[in-house]
Amino acid sequence: MDRSIMLLCFYLVLTAVCVGAQLDFRTRQRGRNVSLNCSFRDASTADVSFVIGMAVSRISDTGEEVLASVTSVGSAPVSHSGVVTSRVSLDGSHESYVNIEWSPANSSLEGDYICRLNGLDPSNSPVLLSQETSLTLQDQGPGVRATPEILEVGLTRILSIKCYIFDLDSHNVSEVSSIGLSYIHDGIDQLLIATSTSEGTDIKPGSDVAFSSSYLGNDQDQENFLEATWQNPGLNRTGKYECTFNGIDTSGNPVFIEATYELNHVEPSKEELIRELEELRNKFESLSKENQDLSAERETMALKIRILEESGKGHKICDTVDLPVGQYPITLFPDDGQGLVEVLCDVVSPGDVWTVFQKRFNGSESFSRGFVAYDQGFGSVRGEHWLGFKQVKRIMTTGQYQIRVDISDHSGVNYTRIYPQFSVGAFDGYRLTVSGYNDGGHGLSFSSGADFSTLDHGPQPHCAIQDNGGWWYDNCAFTNLNGQWGQSGESGVSWFELPDGRIHSLTKTEMKFKKSSQP
Ligand SMILES: *[C@@H]1O[C@H](CO)[C@@H](O)[C@H](O)[C@H]1NC(C)=O
Ligand SMILES: *[C@@H]1O[C@H](CO)[C@@H](O)[C@H](O)[C@H]1NC(C)=O
Ligand SMILES: *[C@@H]1O[C@H](CO)[C@@H](O)[C@H](O)[C@H]1NC(C)=O
Ligand SMILES: *[C@@H]1O[C@H](CO)[C@@H](O)[C@H](O)[C@H]1NC(C)=O
Ligand SMILES: *[C@@H]1O[C@H](CO)[C@@H](O)[C@H](O)[C@H]1NC(C)=O
Ligand SMILES: *[C@@H]1O[C@H](CO)[C@@H](O)[C@H](O)[C@H]1NC(C)=O
Ligand SMILES: *[C@@H]1O[C@H](CO)[C@@H](O)[C@H](O)[C@H]1NC(C)=O
Repeated sequence: MDRSIMLLCFYLVLTAVCVGAQLDFRTRQRGRNVSLNCSFRDASTADVSFVIGMAVSRISDTGEEVLASVTSVGSAPVSHSGVVTSRVSLDGSHESYVNIEWSPANSSLEGDYICRLNGLDPSNSPVLLSQETSLTLQDQGPGVRATPEILEVGLTRILSIKCYIFDLDSHNVSEVSSIGLSYIHDGIDQLLIATSTSEGTDIKPGSDVAFSSSYLGNDQDQENFLEATWQNPGLNRTGKYECTFNGIDTSGNPVFIEATYELNHVEPSKEELIRELEELRNKFESLSKENQDLSAERETMALKIRILEESGKGHKICDTVDLPVGQYPITLFPDDGQGLVEVLCDVVSPGDVWTVFQKRFNGSESFSRGFVAYDQGFGSVRGEHWLGFKQVKRIMTTGQYQIRVDISDHSGVNYTRIYPQFSVGAFDGYRLTVSGYNDGGHGLSFSSGADFSTLDHGPQPHCAIQDNGGWWYDNCAFTNLNGQWGQSGESGVSWFELPDGRIHSLTKTEMKFKKSSQP
């Protein structure tokens, strides 16, 4: 129930019945013509069987000013502003509306409006309905809009630049056939992205736009636009942007329109600066205590910035991430347009980077979960987690992959297993295929060919129940990295191939994949 009905019910509780029927109150802009249209129809007449009258008013600090009022019984609409058209049917099951149009409109009309209807319900008790709307005039362009309008260094997480043109008619344009967005730097024009009716939208080579969206068409109520979006924009994003619109005018001649925008930046606000300063001071104090070199701090900062930059680059898999040895949460941008994926990238050595899909190290996350959890993923990339088959399948698209498993046993000995062939089958078996490493059949290779089972799903739920996890069980398994944390035996976090791998639960597990270098 929206707020206005709630208020209405509150008001009516003493005077009349509370009804479900609602007014439809919309604003519409065509060129510089703007209209407010309040309409009503109660097909069932359950709430309103007779309409007596309707009125549209402007809400101001001093009260409500009626702009148009009309009754179902006789007389023409009373208009105090704009051009009013209306049809008010006595019968609540027929459509009634009051429409006010201003042509041209100007910004003095911007504000809040309310529409009211009074009528009778089936038992002839009075019914009052009301609905509010607010009017803002849409900028028609052609123009360039940046959101936010000013880059706040270090605080702006998402920046978008949009080329737009609204209401082609009023610009004497019958069709826009293409829009291009360029960045102008040192007098050089770099085309970042373009959209055209013939070729769709594409991000130009050399441009690092993270997302794009666009609309080109003849729907008079939509703006034709092209929008580019960046993540974690840096200072180098500021400067001059130019949009070019190509099309045909109403007499069939080509038109070419340009618009520009200068993106500036501000340093963070005072409050933010104080907060940052506080943080830095705390860090500084702890650093002085530990008597560490301040350059270490600077390096940490520099690394953080690099992590953010890598996240904004649009990687499709961790393999291409360029960071020093370590593990980092990075945002991936799969090609399927289904949104971003946050993953943990493990840089084992420069150029040897893996996408982690399972990680355990302290038992904080329960892995005894059902199929939906294993499909969607659980935990956090900053802690223990299972990325989820959904995400894995979106990242592992074409090509061949290998899997790497890093595990530590209870005495702190580390083991690494790499199977050069790795694939996960289709939903919902997610069949495992691994090969290329000889674990004597006592490692992951035993599970190759098996479908994934959880306690509530898959071919072998009894194994998932017995072994406390989700896994590629084949009458259970020799490996059980999603098993019970801290539990000895097969149902624990186990890997039979290792010397102690089933006697004591493992203390660290990581499963990760990357593309095979050979085609
Ligand atoms: C705006 O209203 C005027 C007057 O009613 C009309 O002539 C004109 O065509 C309208 N423009 C648009 C874009 O609808
Ligand atoms: C007002 O809205 C109603 C319902 O959508 C519609 O039938 C009617 O034609 C509109 N009136 C005008 C003048 O646009
Ligand atoms: C804006 O529009 C209103 C209503 O049509 C009109 O009364 C007013 O004079 C206009 N103001 C300007 C500045 O054009
Ligand atoms: C559109 O064409 C009309 C008539 O040719 C002209 O008066 C008007 O200024 C033009 N408008 C624009 C935005 O070019
Ligand atoms: C801004 O910096 C990022 C990261 O260093 C780089 O990828 C991008 O090309 C730069 N953009 C411009 C417009 O120079
Ligand atoms: C496990 O590690 C996570 C992430 O570092 C931490 O938030 C959590 O408190 C730890 N839990 C336990 C039980 O140690
Ligand atoms: C195992 O790897 C960890 C880092 O993941 C390291 O701290 C530890 O020293 C290694 N253990 C041995 C026995 O090498």
